[in-house]
Amino acid sequence: MDKYNYGMIGLGVMGRNLLYNIADNGFSIAGFDLDTEKVKELQDGATSEMKVKGTATLEDFVSALETPRKIILMVPAGKPVDAVLDSITPLLSKGDIVIDAGNSYFKDTNRRVADLASKNLHFMGMGVSGGEKGARTGPSIMPGGDLEAFNLLQPMLEAISAKVDGEACTAYMGKGSAGNYVKMVHNGIEYAIMQLISEAYDLLKRGAKLNNDQLYQVFKEWNNGEMNSFLIEITRDIFQQKDELTDGYLVDQILDKAGAKGTGKWTSEQAMEIGVSIPTIDIAVTSRILSAYKEERVQASQLYTKNEIATPENTELFIKEVGDALYLATLISYAQGLALLVKASEEYQFEIPLKDVVKIWRGGCIIRSVLLEKFYLAYTKDSNLSNILLNQDISVIVKDKINSLRKMAAFAASNGVSSLGMQTALGYFDAYTTESLPVNLIQAQRDYFGAHTYQRTDREGVFHTLWQTATH
Ligand code: 6PG
Repeated sequence: MDKYNYGMIGLGVMGRNLLYNIADNGFSIAGFDLDTEKVKELQDGATSEMKVKGTATLEDFVSALETPRKIILMVPAGKPVDAVLDSITPLLSKGDIVIDAGNSYFKDTNRRVADLASKNLHFMGMGVSGGEKGARTGPSIMPGGDLEAFNLLQPMLEAISAKVDGEACTAYMGKGSAGNYVKMVHNGIEYAIMQLISEAYDLLKRGAKLNNDQLYQVFKEWNNGEMNSFLIEITRDIFQQKDELTDGYLVDQILDKAGAKGTGKWTSEQAMEIGVSIPTIDIAVTSRILSAYKEERVQASQLYTKNEIATPENTELFIKEVGDALYLATLISYAQGLALLVKASEEYQFEIPLKDVVKIWRGGCIIRSVLLEKFYLAYTKDSNLSNILLNQDISVIVKDKINSLRKMAAFAASNGVSSLGMQTALGYFDAYTTESLPVNLIQAQRDYFGAHTYQRTDREGVFHTLWQTATH
C-alpha cells in the first residue's frame, strides 16, 4: 500500500481546508480528528483527483504515513496541542517531524521543541494566516525552527502558499519558535490596523456624516489605489451587507463589543518584556478591552454629554485627509511591529530575515497590502534597518501624509471622538523623531527621590546628586 506524504491532525475548517489545498497540489495526505464526523466530512468533501484518506484511529493515521513522517497539527493553541503530542509521540519514530500550524505561544513551542528533541523528533512552529479561505486557496505561511526539517517541507509549502508576482508567500522565518513569533506580531499589527480602520469609519460616519453606501464608495476608492489591502477590501464589502433580520445594513446591528483570542495581548506583553515601544498595537489591544464596558460606557455617556460633532467644511478634502491619516497610521503600526521583530531576533537569536517577512506578508495573510511592497524594497536596500521609518523612500511617504494625521487627530480630539490608534501613532512618530525628549526631567526626579543615578550629556559616567530642597 502506498504511504501518504503528509498527515493532518485537526479537521476543523482550517485543518480541512489546508489539507485539501495540500492535496490539490499533488501531495497525498491522511487526516485524523477525534471527532469521527469530521473524518467523514473530510472524505465526503474530497474530489476524485485528491489522494486523501481519513483515518479512524491515531495508530492507523501514523502507520499510513511515509517516513520521516510529516504531521501538521491544526488544533486550538494551548492544552489541545500538548494533548495531541502526548498521544502521538509514543507512536512516532526517530526523525519524524511534527509541525504546529496553530496560533501557539512561542514559549510553548520552545518547550515542545526541547521535549520532542529529547525523543529524537523534530517539532516546528509554523504561522498560517489567511483565514478559512486563505487556507484553502493560498495562505501566507511562516515556518521556523529546525532547518533540516524545514527543507523537507519547503516544496510543499511553496506549492500551497499564496503567490505574489509568481513568488511564494512562505519563507524560513528563523530558528526556534521564530515562526510563531512572526505570526504573533502579524496579529498584533492586524489588531492595530483594524483599530485604525474603525477610527477612520467613525470619523467618516459621525464627522463627514457618510451613510453606508457612501462609506462603501470611499473604501472602494481607497482599495483601488495606494491603500489597497485585504482589510480595506473586506471593510468595503461589509458596508454593502444587508441585514437578513431587519431592513437595514448588518453593520449597524452589530453590538460594539470586540472579542480577542489573545495573540494581540501576547504581542504587547512581549514588547514590554523585551523593551520595545509599540503603542498603537498596545492601544488596539486595550481598546478591545474597553469596548467590553458597554453598560458603563452608556452610563458615562449620559453623565458626560458631548457637543455635536462639527461638520467639516469640505467633505471631499476631509475624506482624503482621513484616508491619508489612516494610511500613515497603518504604516507606523507596521513600523512598530517590525521593530519588535528586530529586537526579538537579537534577544532570542531567532535570526529573522525581515526582508522575507515583509515579502511573504504581501499576499495571503490578513495584513497583506500594497504598502508591504515598499517595505520589501526598503529591506532589499538595507536588510539591517532597525526601523522602517529610517528609510529614505518611506520618509517621503511619511512627510506627504503627516499633516493629515495631525489634522485628523486634532479634529477627533477637539470633537470628543475617541481615536486612540491615530493619536498613539502620531505620538509615537513625534517621540521617535525628537532629538531631545523631556525625560531628562524624569531622570532628575528618579535620582531625587530614589538615588537612581543619571547620565550626563556632556561627559561619560554615572552620576548622583544630593538634590537641594527649595527653601521658598
Ligand atoms: C490570520 C488571523 C487568525 C485569526 C486571529 C483572530 O492571520 O488568519 O490572524 O489567526 O483570525 O487569531 O484573532 P482575534 O480573535 O484575537 O481577533
